[in-house]
Amino acid sequence: MSKKRDPILVTRPLLPDLNDLMVRLQDVWDSKWLSNGGHQHNTLEQRIRERLDVPNVSLFSNGTIALLVAIQSLRLQGEVITTPFTFPATTHVLWWNGVQPVFADIDPETMTLDPASVERVITHRTSGILGVHVYGIPCDVAALGDIADRHGLRVIYDAAHAFEAEIDGVGIGNFGDISMFSFHPTKLFHSGEGGCLTYRDPNLKARIDLLKNFGIRNEFEVIMPGINGKMNELQAALGHLVLEIVDEERARRLRIRQQYERELGDLPGLVIPKVGPGVKDSGQYFVIRIKASEFGADRDQVYDALRSQEIFARKYFFPLTSDYTCYRSLSSARPELLPNAHMVAGEVLCLPYFGELTEDNVSEICDVIRSLARPAAV
Ligand SMILES: Cc1ncc(COP(=O)(O)O)c(C=O)c1O
Repeated sequence: MSKKRDPILVTRPLLPDLNDLMVRLQDVWDSKWLSNGGHQHNTLEQRIRERLDVPNVSLFSNGTIALLVAIQSLRLQGEVITTPFTFPATTHVLWWNGVQPVFADIDPETMTLDPASVERVITHRTSGILGVHVYGIPCDVAALGDIADRHGLRVIYDAAHAFEAEIDGVGIGNFGDISMFSFHPTKLFHSGEGGCLTYRDPNLKARIDLLKNFGIRNEFEVIMPGINGKMNELQAALGHLVLEIVDEERARRLRIRQQYERELGDLPGLVIPKVGPGVKDSGQYFVIRIKASEFGADRDQVYDALRSQEIFARKYFFPLTSDYTCYRSLSSARPELLPNAHMVAGEVLCLPYFGELTEDNVSEICDVIRSLARPAAV
């Protein structure tokens, strides 16, 4: 009898050789320095700056605290316009800063903030725009930048999914005032937990780095109400090693993407979103959209069918953050104002996507999906 295969999860963390980690940890042990800007942290910060091709980087303990500090560092107040089609952290960090999230709709193709919808909800209280490069698909940075300039707003990008994505050869962390990258283990590049902010204004460095360390200037002076957002040496040591194997993992994933595209690309009602021309794919997610009336089954049926075979796809991002109990009473959260976001949240499914998936795994996943598709008309 053949052995039953393991459940297939949506992702698995990229793990470097444990012996290599031991060598790095020996250095950490020898230094007797575990946090607060040690050697591992400082050298990783420099390497991330080079890899993302950005002028300034601050590393953090996780992406959520990084985004929280980004908003605090720009002193955003009143209202910030954002997308409901995202992970909870994007909306929660506004609330934690005492800022009211104002939801705008998304573009039905790119699934990122629709600039026209953003412009419609600007009021005298608006201080900024918080966009998400969802699945590594860039926001319309030119249009959002133009709106921000005309209305005197700041722009922050949640680039949690967009590590090393580029727009026309420019690192995606160069757009807007600040961008945040997450280094959670579900991300292609990770440091166990972690994250960073990137920004062009060198003057922000001192403020951001103070904010992530309680606002401590020196032994006797605390000059602002900071928080603890520091990346420690163990995280940074792991980050160094994962950075060395990211390119190979991304190449493996892009081959898996090609197999998915070959095996699913011809199914009516199954749409495979792609990054636009001139954009480098971060390799973070493989997402499909199920147009139920054409496909013959809806997204939830596809999800359930995969689950019954112990294949755990994820409905990223459903529900919309505007539908959470903590936000749904906001006037901008009314579903009739967010038709594209509701449509997309009902269609998307992230399929398993990590380098260790075998060709057989991908074929099995595709067979389950194909078995639900409406038979082609003869
Ligand atoms: C869009 C988005 N924003 C923010 C975060 C939060 O990042 P972290 O888990 O590093 O705090 C995530 C996921 O982890 C995310 O997917």
